[in-house]
Amino acid sequence: MCGIFAYLNCGVPKTKKEIVEKLLVGLKRLEYRGYDSAGFAMDDNEKWCEDDDDDDDEEEGGDKKRHDAKKVIVCREVGKIANLEALARKELFGEDDDDENEVKASKSKSSNGRKKSSSSIKPLDFCASIAHTRWATHGPPNKINTHPHTSDSRENEFVVVHNGIITNHAPLRAMLERRGMKFETDTDTEVIPKLCKFLSDKFEESGEKDVTFRQLAMEVTRQLQGAYALVFKSTKYPGELVAAKRGSPLLMGISDDSGEVSCVIDGNLSDGAEEDVLLKKASGNKKRKSMTGGAAAAPAADADTTTTTTRITTTTTTTTNNPKVEFYFASDASAMVEHTKRVLVLEDDDVCHCHDGTYKIYKVEKQKHPHPGYTSGHDSPEYGLYKPVVLSKEVERTIETLEMEVESIMKGEFDHFMQKEIFEQPEAISSTMRGRLVLDVLGAAERVMLGGMSQFAATIRRSRRIILCGCGTSYNSAIAIRQLFEELTELPVTLELASDVLDRRCPFFRDDTCIFISQSGETADTLKALEYAKAKGALCVGIVNTVGSAISRATDCGVHINAGAEIGVASTKAYTCQIVAMVLVALSLSEDSRSKHTRRDDIMQGLLKLPGCVKECLKMDAILLELAQELKEEHSLLIFGRGFNYATALEGALKVKEVALVHSEGILAGEMKHGPLALVDKHMPIIVVCTNDGSYEKQQSVVQQLKARDGRLILIVSDDDTEMEKTAPDAVILRVPKVEDCLQAVVNIVPLQLLSYHLTVLRGHNCDQPRNLAKSVTVE
Ligand code: G6P
Repeated sequence: MCGIFAYLNCGVPKTKKEIVEKLLVGLKRLEYRGYDSAGFAMDDNEKWCEDDDDDDDEEEGGDKKRHDAKKVIVCREVGKIANLEALARKELFGEDDDDENEVKASKSKSSNGRKKSSSSIKPLDFCASIAHTRWATHGPPNKINTHPHTSDSRENEFVVVHNGIITNHAPLRAMLERRGMKFETDTDTEVIPKLCKFLSDKFEESGEKDVTFRQLAMEVTRQLQGAYALVFKSTKYPGELVAAKRGSPLLMGISDDSGEVSCVIDGNLSDGAEEDVLLKKASGNKKRKSMTGGAAAAPAADADTTTTTTRITTTTTTTTNNPKVEFYFASDASAMVEHTKRVLVLEDDDVCHCHDGTYKIYKVEKQKHPHPGYTSGHDSPEYGLYKPVVLSKEVERTIETLEMEVESIMKGEFDHFMQKEIFEQPEAISSTMRGRLVLDVLGAAERVMLGGMSQFAATIRRSRRIILCGCGTSYNSAIAIRQLFEELTELPVTLELASDVLDRRCPFFRDDTCIFISQSGETADTLKALEYAKAKGALCVGIVNTVGSAISRATDCGVHINAGAEIGVASTKAYTCQIVAMVLVALSLSEDSRSKHTRRDDIMQGLLKLPGCVKECLKMDAILLELAQELKEEHSLLIFGRGFNYATALEGALKVKEVALVHSEGILAGEMKHGPLALVDKHMPIIVVCTNDGSYEKQQSVVQQLKARDGRLILIVSDDDTEMEKTAPDAVILRVPKVEDCLQAVVNIVPLQLLSYHLTVLRGHNCDQPRNLAKSVTVE
């Protein structure tokens, strides 16, 4: 929800055009996080605007650069990144709207409108730039509310991009307005650049002239409550970027020629004195109690994945002599991977300061005062002289190498990400199982090995109950797996929507195991429910796709689903891989049960066949396109399922409503007679999931009753079924491969995914960026 991208080149010359293109590409990679409006800010350096034959300038070094970057370009536009791109081409480079393919330097003009010759456009050695794509929360998606936000729109002394929510923005705004500041937007974010300006002036008044950009940012974040990922830029601190994080994800990427980067640290800076201690970065990971290692150290098999990140340690140098480094900040790795694979995940309360080819990370120390944010009383910066008060400590963060491939964030031969991700499912499911479903010499599945969970299996087995918790599609995957968990663990298994856990303040106990399921690993409700469960002492397990995400870090142990990057807002491959990952968990929890040996073995052999069965299902694409053509004008669609396939009905309906924008309801077939039957007539299209499992006969009776009411039926049946077409000869029959009952949901959802995809395209909607939605919902 909202995407941040920022870039700082140090000693690596870049033209304005190159930087703008970098920002736009970065934003496009993050567009799935929000697409209401987008914007960027960058230095408008004289070197870009004036013919400048004085080569001496280039040798003047840091000071000269600091004087140059007086002006800031801020470019914002409503809607998709393509709109921002068109605006930037027109306003910054003087291109016509239809001149889309290349920015022509010969036609470029300066921001004041003067035509420029290509020779005048000189690259800049240092340029700090920030960009943002917005999912509107505070204020409508118009230009004025678009990030970056600024301390004042004429000077743009401080500009900021923000992901998250500032919950105390109202008192802060009131305080700043009392001190004469004028607000222009409806956003919560605007208080941040205004606070930068206010505190910066305050410090100057107090004689604190040497406050660094980082110290200033820390003083600002001290005043904030809520969640944020922030990147700050300022004309007062040219060539510098400061990033801060609490609650919303933020990564830093580093790209340099040497593979080494300087890391300068300082000690406690409460007095503002910077002691440049040059330090070699520690060579080991900090022990982490999380899904990726630490207390639950993952053995090789579990780490054997192709799509996740791998932690490696890099040696850092002490060199600051003419460093050539590029720094990136982004909300997630997909915006980073084409520039650098060397990333560092910022943690809550980290503040990262990049300048002069170095970066430093500090952790803000716990406040001396009980409450952060002082908007009144004698602690408030509002009255009297005010000096920096925040204490911080330099921290080490391991640089990780992304193993994600650039192709994984490209559409390749597909028209849409949703389509690509549906078709990637056979491979994604294999990735989920790779190294975890252990085979014997004859190639049969022998056992399950989940390195990230093995140390906790006994504790989970001793739990009083298992709670499965998530939102949206992830919650549906919990529904799909509940029955198998109950069967194999013989423990009570309850389901919780994460937002409801918080609303109800559910009774969770120390002997509960809570399993949190999330593709992104950053959904605010799920994360909050996790914090709540932790506070109650429950064991917290994560089933997460995004390595390094907040949920994967905060859980005690877990399994990464390894589905690869999922870009389409509607989750598809993550859903099927979540189910498969949880089947593996259920199998591993029941490995000691002799009575379940045969059942477990059948499921394991079934898992081996699953990718092939999903591949078979994908061959139905043309049939589903035809069906979508038939249904494209419909206003409503009902889907009935039960048992293992109640989840299929819910998830199928969710897909249809969220991308095709057709009203759709997933209904537990057992409830049909208690209301939904009233909706049935000869016009209403109804899909019934009636593949051959323990619920088959009951579903046959449902089909009969629907037929008796003239229902317009579409039946998903097993490929060897002969009965259903006799029961409902007029029905459209969709045949899917038969697999073990508890795995059937993985197969059965595929035709519904394809149907919703084709319906969306035929109805002229954007399946990758459905109306009003975003992929990562980082606000409660
Ligand atoms: C949003 C997305 C859904 C997703 C849900 C939960 O609503 O649009 O596709 O299922 O969040 O997200 P998570 O990342 O926690 O699985």
